[in-house]
Amino acid sequence: MTSVENRARTALVTGASAGIGRAIAVAFGELGWRVAVGARRIDALGETATRVTDAGGTAFVQPLDVTDPDSVETFAANATDALGPIDVLVNNAGCAWPGDIAAVDPDRLRDMLATNVLGALLPSRAVVARLLAANAPGDVVFISSDAVHNPRPGLVTYGATKAAAEHIARGLAYEVEGTGIRVTTVRVGPTITDFASEWGDPQQFGALVERWQHFGNQRHWGVMDPSDVARAVVLAVTTPPGVHFDTIEVQPVAPRPLD
Ligand SMILES: NC(=O)c1ccc[n+]([C@@H]2O[C@H](COP(=O)([O-])OP(=O)(O)OC[C@H]3O[C@@H](n4cnc5c(N)ncnc54)[C@H](OP(=O)(O)O)[C@@H]3O)[C@@H](O)[C@H]2O)c1
Repeated sequence: MTSVENRARTALVTGASAGIGRAIAVAFGELGWRVAVGARRIDALGETATRVTDAGGTAFVQPLDVTDPDSVETFAANATDALGPIDVLVNNAGCAWPGDIAAVDPDRLRDMLATNVLGALLPSRAVVARLLAANAPGDVVFISSDAVHNPRPGLVTYGATKAAAEHIARGLAYEVEGTGIRVTTVRVGPTITDFASEWGDPQQFGALVERWQHFGNQRHWGVMDPSDVARAVVLAVTTPPGVHFDTIEVQPVAPRPLD
């Protein structure tokens, strides 16, 4: 029998057009896996697909909006037709908009809740339903944030959506206990991506970080590469059956001794 950790598997990665999602998709490609890469920007997804293929995997590309139930269901159905049953899901798509609660644009609040909470629930629903119907083992990963530890002023809603995602992960783990489906939270620290590219000029960004330092949320300036996070995801989903990583927190090492 081929064990789950060493056979080529079929993965669905949301938010795979950039950053951490792209790095996870490429890491799966390096394992020779089939990878369905979804996000809204089709051109950027094409670039991810090329990198997955170059790395040794097979890619399926289709636009995906994780906040739209029809889009998620169509994506899961077409990816399954193209690649075979999906047995690894990475709920990675996410967004964050800074702004104090008293000032933040309500549309941005809605966007964060939709993308980070509904956008994790809908793909989980689509993939887990298929795994249960097939009585098949699998892995579901939720990409969370160290913002769940402490509310970061100016980014409170984002932290709340990630805390909700971790709650969903823990509850889903109970719902599927005994089925062979593992659920893992990968909680991520500062990583260099486009994530904060629209958060304003360097001065505004600096002011935000100063507030976080004041409240003990940002202890140093160390940052990671998206591939560092991808390595943690690969570790979780390639661990032999019988063992389960519940939560992995990935943090950068401080760049120099603290003052
Ligand atoms: N970077 C960090 O420091 C950091 C720290 C902690 C946690 N995280 C988490 O890591 C995950 C990835 O973030 P990142 O840093 O790689 O940011 P990023 O470079 O901005 O990537 C975000 C990805 O999410 C996708 N996305 C956004 N809304 C979507 C939607 N409605 N439907 C489908 N895809 C959607 C984007 O693709 P399209 O725009 O093409 O749709 C993009 O591929 C997020 O969950 C984030 O919360 C990041």
